[in-house]
Amino acid sequence: VDRPRPLVAGNWKMNGLKSSARVLSEVHAGYTPGLKAKVDLAVCPPATLVGAFAIQSVGSRVAIGGQDCHAKETGAFTGDISAEMLADAGASYVLVGHSERRQYHAEKDTDVCNKAVAAHRAGLTAIVCVGETREERESGRTLAVVKKQLRGSIPADSNSRNLVVAYEPVWAIGTGLTPTAADVAEVHTLIREELKRLVGKAEQAKVRILYGGSVKPSNAAELMAVENVDGALVGGASLVAADFLGIAGAY
Ligand code: G3P
Repeated sequence: VDRPRPLVAGNWKMNGLKSSARVLSEVHAGYTPGLKAKVDLAVCPPATLVGAFAIQSVGSRVAIGGQDCHAKETGAFTGDISAEMLADAGASYVLVGHSERRQYHAEKDTDVCNKAVAAHRAGLTAIVCVGETREERESGRTLAVVKKQLRGSIPADSNSRNLVVAYEPVWAIGTGLTPTAADVAEVHTLIREELKRLVGKAEQAKVRILYGGSVKPSNAAELMAVENVDGALVGGASLVAADFLGIAGAY
């Protein structure tokens, strides 16, 4: 089976102001025909910038995504943003279940699943994030934890167009630590196996599985070469256009 076309997505987290349009311009400029032929790019800025970034990216083939969405379409949910609003602002992706949402906003697998359903309802591709904590890895529970998260977080209506899975070991996020290639391969292979159950055998082969956690230009080639790694979800390094493009260039 052909490998899915890789996706490198930048998660800007709570970083970025209007002036960050400059970084996006640099990403557009560096997304050369050669790179376009090999890899998809997406930038997920804070919600305040989604609309402006989407307008700025018209015609560029850089996709824009949100970092979270509410499960409902509209209503009395002060401060929340629906998937439909992100779509209306020009987003085509949304991250759901990032470990920082799970940790700081107590999101459970069922919440993540409902958000992914909302993303699909709005026509967005949900990037569903899973990953174990350091304690879970040290106690040998990584595969069990990831399997449980997948089963609980991925909606039944998922397919290779509306679902991307991101494996982000929590202990590797923003720490400079990364798992070994063998450890990444083990988890990504488990994710593929689980996807067979969740989206079906033929469809799962086309679902992209991203690795995230301290991806940098210097380690991207090694990580992206791992079996069943179909791209990267990049935090810190995505804030610098040259680094983000350097990671994409690892393909
Ligand atoms: O979603 C991406 C992220 O959590 C990884 O962050 O800064 O380790 O690349 P970072």
